[in-house]
Amino acid sequence: MHVRIPRPWAIRESEVTEERIYRARRHFMKTSAVAALGAGLFPGLVAARAEQQLDALRPLEKSRFSTDEDPNTYEEITSYNNFYEYGTGKEDPARLAPKYLKPEPWSVEITGEAEVTGSFALEDLLKPHALEERIYRLRCVEAWSMVIPWVGIPLADVIKRFKPTSRAKYVKLTTLLDPEQMPKQDSGGIFGFLSTIDWPYTEGLRMDEAMNELSLLAVGLYGKEMPAQNGAPIRLVVPWKYGFKSVKSIVSIHFQETQPNTTWNDLAPNEYGFYANVNPEVDHPRWSQARERRIGELFKRDTLMFNGYGEQVASLYRGMDLSKHY
Ligand code: MTE
Repeated sequence: MHVRIPRPWAIRESEVTEERIYRARRHFMKTSAVAALGAGLFPGLVAARAEQQLDALRPLEKSRFSTDEDPNTYEEITSYNNFYEYGTGKEDPARLAPKYLKPEPWSVEITGEAEVTGSFALEDLLKPHALEERIYRLRCVEAWSMVIPWVGIPLADVIKRFKPTSRAKYVKLTTLLDPEQMPKQDSGGIFGFLSTIDWPYTEGLRMDEAMNELSLLAVGLYGKEMPAQNGAPIRLVVPWKYGFKSVKSIVSIHFQETQPNTTWNDLAPNEYGFYANVNPEVDHPRWSQARERRIGELFKRDTLMFNGYGEQVASLYRGMDLSKHY
């Protein structure tokens, strides 16, 4: 018999929010707020119904940073992906990642300019932290977007435990390198585009960006463990930057003094900057970044500066020419 040993950090079955309930709750809360205004006659009834609906959910800590926009469906979020280790097609990751990626056991190496370094089992990395739900917009550099209810922990809280030294000016995050689990790291084909990528996929942040309250290490979405295609078991989410900064399946966090090399910046520096802040005024050389297509919607919408997170992050870039530091 296959016995599933629950990981300490795993979200309990009873806590899992069915997407159906989840979406219904959000709809209910929106409409009941309106209804409550006109429900002076039955205020007790409205409150009781709200409680009943909320009882169906487990109490993941809610975040004040969550958008109240409607999230994309679980199906959309897990079937339209970018994860080039499994191919360049949007459906490749959902087809191949669950087959090849083994997210358990998993450990993350902490190295470089920090007082505490070493290899940490994922459970130990996560144990001291409460899991939060953060419903963030994700804006891909390819001009599509989604709204995703992530589950994770603030990157800042994790970094603090390792006590970076004063020389730690940047943090580099790296994806697993293992062609057995990530077949396209091996078989891009010598003439294929994937062979031009110097695997493993690497990303980096300035230290103050990494410590920003929005930076999240995500381990799940929709109240469930992270699906393979979305970067199981742990990935970065930096919602004010183009999606390619949000590196998946992280095995290494390295603190360093100089700006790290990053995969897309190395491949095409004139197209993909190190900062990669969402900016409707700076076009990609081959397409406009002024508008975006929200997956599941018919009409395009305007792209927002910093993907709408300016209040939290604009101060990080004061005095910088964002058309140069794109
Ligand atoms: N991380 C790795 N290791 N490999 C990738 O190809 N693609 C990036 C980012 N992280 C990518 C990655 C890009 S371009 C985007 S838009 C997001 O992941 C997509 O995340 P999602 O598939 O969960 O929506």
